[in-house]
Amino acid sequence: MLWITGSKGLLGSALCAALPEGVPFLETGREVDIADLESVRAFSRKNPGMTHIVNCAAFSQVDAAEDFKDQAYRTNAVGPENLAIVAKESGAKLIHISTDYVFDGKGRKPLTEKDPTGPRSTYGKTKLEGEERALNQGACVIRTSWIFGSGGKNFVSKLLKMLQTQPEIRLTDDQWGRFTYAPDLAAAILKMLDKEGLYQYANMGVATKYEFGLAMREEAFLLGFPIMTDAIIPVPGSCFPAPCERPTYSAFDTTKIEQIVTIRHWREALKDFLCEQMPAYS
Ligand SMILES: NC(=O)c1ccc[n+]([C@@H]2O[C@H](COP(=O)([O-])OP(=O)(O)OC[C@H]3O[C@@H](n4cnc5c(N)ncnc54)[C@H](OP(=O)(O)O)[C@@H]3O)[C@@H](O)[C@H]2O)c1
Repeated sequence: MLWITGSKGLLGSALCAALPEGVPFLETGREVDIADLESVRAFSRKNPGMTHIVNCAAFSQVDAAEDFKDQAYRTNAVGPENLAIVAKESGAKLIHISTDYVFDGKGRKPLTEKDPTGPRSTYGKTKLEGEERALNQGACVIRTSWIFGSGGKNFVSKLLKMLQTQPEIRLTDDQWGRFTYAPDLAAAILKMLDKEGLYQYANMGVATKYEFGLAMREEAFLLGFPIMTDAIIPVPGSCFPAPCERPTYSAFDTTKIEQIVTIRHWREALKDFLCEQMPAYS
């Protein structure tokens, strides 16, 4: 029996959807507060026979984390440790999800699991502590970056709306990373259920949001979406001041996880994402 926390979120909903038919699972949202050990323990005791816990719950609003540091810390650092403790108590394995924001993003080469971390934001610091606490208890931690999909708020969904409503859009061209299609990551997680240790997963190909925007306009146009944007203008990240400092370069080296799962290029995943949005326009 699998337990998916954060099941109403972007990744959690993709993971629930990716489960093969007949696989028994439980899903929880806010009703089981992962920051509350007793609440996590009570849920686990009420549901014996758990073999795996996949933690997709997080305080994921990176800017808001600067104002709600305690809440971010409780969810992102204490939460995974609580789940790891309860997983151990019940003989289950924990798969916990972390982020590229654990890096300082100052370098210019793909980052491996062994590269030094150096988070520059509250979100990144709390997520790093969460992954360390989970790893100390024998969990599998999968870092990911720039997730997009149908099940929650994200840059790519917003971008598709902008392309259909705005004649001109500005996108950053001085921040590099790897996009991750939520259903691809969900499928990868299901192959990692019995692993331990630290891994990194994102779709292949390093890109800026500007490059992604150009590709999305092209693919969406070919699929028949009504596109209104004539001009996509590359701008520096400094055009969008925000409380949380974003890493400038946070592209992963995914060689380690590629020994276990096959990863496709983000452009292929983008086409699938667009096809998924099609019924709304037909
Ligand atoms: N999105 C990205 O681009 C990205 C990039 C790198 C890594 N990640 C990591 O990937 C994982 C999944 O992210 P996501 O984008 O799917 O996040 P998400 O859409 O915000 O989903 C997280 C879910 O967790 C819930 N939650 C928050 N605090 C909770 C608590 N204390 N107890 C139980 N549930 C709680 C949230 O509920 P509410 O909606 O009510 O707050 C939400 O439904 C996270 O670990 C995140 O750090 C995400």
